[in-house]
Amino acid sequence: MTEDIVILTGAGISAESGLGTFRDVNGLWTRYDLEEVATPDGFARNPALVHEFYNTRRANCRAATPNAAHLALARLEREGLGRVLVVTQNVDDLHERAGSRAVWHMHGRLARALCAACGYRWDAPDFMDPQDTCPACAAHATRPDVVWFGEYPHRMDEIWERLRAATLFVAIGTSGQVYPAAAFVQDAGRAGARTLELNLEPSAGISDFDEARLGKASDLVPAWVAEVLAQAEP
Ligand code: APR
Repeated sequence: MTEDIVILTGAGISAESGLGTFRDVNGLWTRYDLEEVATPDGFARNPALVHEFYNTRRANCRAATPNAAHLALARLEREGLGRVLVVTQNVDDLHERAGSRAVWHMHGRLARALCAACGYRWDAPDFMDPQDTCPACAAHATRPDVVWFGEYPHRMDEIWERLRAATLFVAIGTSGQVYPAAAFVQDAGRAGARTLELNLEPSAGISDFDEARLGKASDLVPAWVAEVLAQAEP
């Protein structure tokens, strides 16, 4: 059967690459006040603190390497028979570095910078600072190209279109607590897709999934990909 697979990933898929999650024990939101570092108001109040937060995350991301889960999703895209799309809530680039090409970052990317004055986007330097100026309009209005709480995620219309067309929706490493991503399982299920959760612990939305497998992504994802590829063999 030719599948049309949409995969939603969250911080849990990058946990074994050494990048922190948000809501686990010692998660980022237990060590930083998200109101201060992940909202437009926080950035307006203290841009230096916000740049420091993302400079640190950018450095951690550079030091991290894709794990077996990222590599397995790239294999699925390469060897699978149908379409495979990764919609990630993560701002790291580990899916791309693992070889995935169809990756949509609905919460933006650490690797990109945005001018709040003119909307210009460019590759972010390793370290950003409130004194930086926009390469296009020279305004002191540079910010990380990430989606903060209260801002609208990227490519939502295209994502909903793919969820409606999907035969299979898989959520990996996400707690299912942040919308609109947390509702994707319902959107896909309503449109007729089968739904699967691969997560270390039951997410908030586990009851919406046809099936849930609990464990580490680096174990669950390669095993699941091998299953899908074996079923797809002509
Ligand atoms: N393997 C699989 N799942 C894991 C692993 C692992 N090794 N480690 C942790 N997890 C699971 C946790 O059980 C949890 O359900 O990953 C999930 C991480 O949840 P969160 O920390 O809430 O991260 P996420 O769901 O990606 O957050 C969504 O919230 O703060 C915003 O913008 C931020 O994109 C983020 C969004």
